[in-house]
This record gives sequence, C-alpha cells and structure tokens, in this order.
Amino acid sequence: MSVPALLSDDAKTVRKLRLNLDRNKVQDQTATIDAGTAAFRYADCADRAWNPEGYSLLWGTPIWDSADARQRLILNQLYWVAYYSQIVSAEIATIFFNQTSAAGLYAVEDFRVVCDTLDLESAQERAHIAAFRTIAGATEDAILGRRVFTWPLRGPYAETMVFGDTGPFRAWWKRLQLRTFGLLSSGNAFIACQYFLVRGLRTLNGKLVQHQLSQHHLRADDPEQSPIPSKISYWHFLDESYHFNSSTVISHDVVRSLPAPTAFERHVVNLGLRGCQQDHRHFSATINGIFWYDPALYDAVYAVLTSPGYGLARADALALMEATYTQEHAGVHAAAATHATARDSYASYLDGLAFVSAENRAQTITGRAQVAGWLATNRRAFARWRARA
Ligand SMILES: [Fe+2]
Ligand SMILES: [Fe+2]
Repeated sequence: MSVPALLSDDAKTVRKLRLNLDRNKVQDQTATIDAGTAAFRYADCADRAWNPEGYSLLWGTPIWDSADARQRLILNQLYWVAYYSQIVSAEIATIFFNQTSAAGLYAVEDFRVVCDTLDLESAQERAHIAAFRTIAGATEDAILGRRVFTWPLRGPYAETMVFGDTGPFRAWWKRLQLRTFGLLSSGNAFIACQYFLVRGLRTLNGKLVQHQLSQHHLRADDPEQSPIPSKISYWHFLDESYHFNSSTVISHDVVRSLPAPTAFERHVVNLGLRGCQQDHRHFSATINGIFWYDPALYDAVYAVLTSPGYGLARADALALMEATYTQEHAGVHAAAATHATARDSYASYLDGLAFVSAENRAQTITGRAQVAGWLATNRRAFARWRARA
C-alpha cells in the first residue's frame, strides 16, 4: 500500500466519487419507485410473466417440466417475490453498515463526499425495501393466501440469508459477529472503508441476476405496458449500479488515502470476506441466482405446490419434489453455472488487493459447491424431510 495521503490529493478518485454521486442524484429512482409501488395491483399483472423465463422458481426441474401455463406464471411471479425478499434482508444490513462505516470514515479529513454518497444510498435502499415488501406481500396474499417467502420486518443483526444453512448456534454467532463489525467499523477507518469490499462482493451476484431481471422490462415490445414488478426490477437496477460503483471506488481507490492496515484490521476484513463465502457456499435449484440452501426450502416449496392457486394434491407434490431434489436436471446445472460465474467474478474483484488472504482470494469455500455434493446433501435431507412431511 502506498504512503497515506489526503483524499483530496488523489484528484482522480475524488473525481470518480463526485461524478458517481452527482449522476446518482440526477437519475435517482426513488420517486418513480414509490409511485410504481403505490400503483401496483396484483390483478393488473396476474396473467403476465414478470421476469425472463429462466428466472422462475424451479426452472428446469421436474416441477417446472410438469407445470401448465398458469403454474409457470405462478413460479415466475414467485421468483420475484422470493428473490426480492432476500434483497430486502441484504438491504436492511446495508443501511446499517452504510451508517456505521460513514461514522468511521467521517472522522477522516476530506471524506465528506464519501459520506454524502452513503446517505443518498441509504435513503434509496429504504424506498427499495418498501417497494419489494409491498409488492411481494400483496402477491403472496393473492396467490398463496399466506406468507411463505416474505417475513415481518426485522433489524440488521438477523441472519442475512433468509433460507440459509444455519442452526441456533451459527445464527447466534453470526449476530455477535455482525454487532462486533458494526462497532469496529464505526471507529476504524480501514475497516469502515473495507466494509465496501464486502458490500461490493455481495452485490456482484446481485448485479449479474438483476441485470437479467431488468432486461425483461427493457426488451418488452411495449416497455410502457410492462408489469410494475418488471419496471421495479429495472428502476432498482439503475440505482444499484451507482451503489456498486461506490463500493468499488471506496474499497479499491479511497483505501490508498488511509494508512496501511494493521494485522488486526486485515484479520477483521478477511473475516467479513470469509462470511460472504460462507453465505454463498451453496447453490439452489429452487431459485437460480440466490445462494439459498435447498433443504431449508422444502417446506416453502411444498406450501407453494399445494396452495389453492397452484393446485397439486399432496401425493403429486411429494413425488415431483422428490424427483426435483434427488435427481440431476437442467435446473440444478443452471444454478451451478450461475454460482460458478459469481465465484469467478468474486475472485477477480479481490484480485490485486494485498490485504486479502489466500483463502478469500482463491474462493476456497465457494469453490466446494458442486452438483455431486448438492445431490448427496439433498438426497439425505429430502429422505429425512419426507419421513416427517
Ligand atoms: Fe437496493
Ligand atoms: Fe444498494
């Protein structure tokens, strides 16, 4: 790392920060998203797809293959619901750590532009959360008559992965780590600055998938008429592209204006990166693009299939679920491919940063996810679940 300097001495980085903030202010989608959310009625877009076909729950699995046109629409719309329910969880954490990190960085001379950027982004996340929750909740009520993927609003210390591979001890440990990270980042400029490395990494997969989701609106024959949830995907993607830029500039460029990290600071940041690997160590055939743990989703999938709207009988639902979670199919290979792409992009995002550990640089933990392992895990877990179901 180079000799610490004032951020204002690094004219190129300051220019990047200001440009990103100014452009984000000009194209801020908050009012548009709020208006879209207020206008949403499920009945208006009940008979339309909201995402490209591949972004439907269980796409390419035996459940998808046997679904009729109406059931496929339900899986497509519930993908939106499930996907953005996970994004809500991530954005609640983002708001909190934007604020603790801004506190840690505001103590450094010249860092106002960084903190102003974070204030705007946090306000945008609140609009995103409101939109996702409103639309997802109304959609579940209409299709399922109950909540399956959405959840009551909660604080930033909860487990980020909504359907993750966790247990009571792991969840407790995670809460403790998040609280500690909040405290440390609010009083340490390097840790605060490198929260944005963790945030950038976590956003990379989102960027990949959300780009695809936003295309559904953009490529529609008449985008004006596309369903409101498709428009929200697009508007959200516009806001998030600025957030990703700021993550990258703060973690990769602004860091050069801080003193080189101590061993402790490096350790804390690498723990954060390791936590990201842990959260992303599985792929899911239920929802390609979110790294949920499929055994945690069996109850939810069963609830969808046997809902009045979807209409499967118990025996048919169980037989299709067994085929989906114990056999190889296009769905699991598509999910594995998305995971591999995300993993490559994580590795290249971390490339060239001297303080990143070899384990994080090589993405050792995310690298263990394979179709064979997914099959073995799900065969075991499904047999246990089936015995109770
Ligand atoms: Fe967002
Ligand atoms: Fe964001």
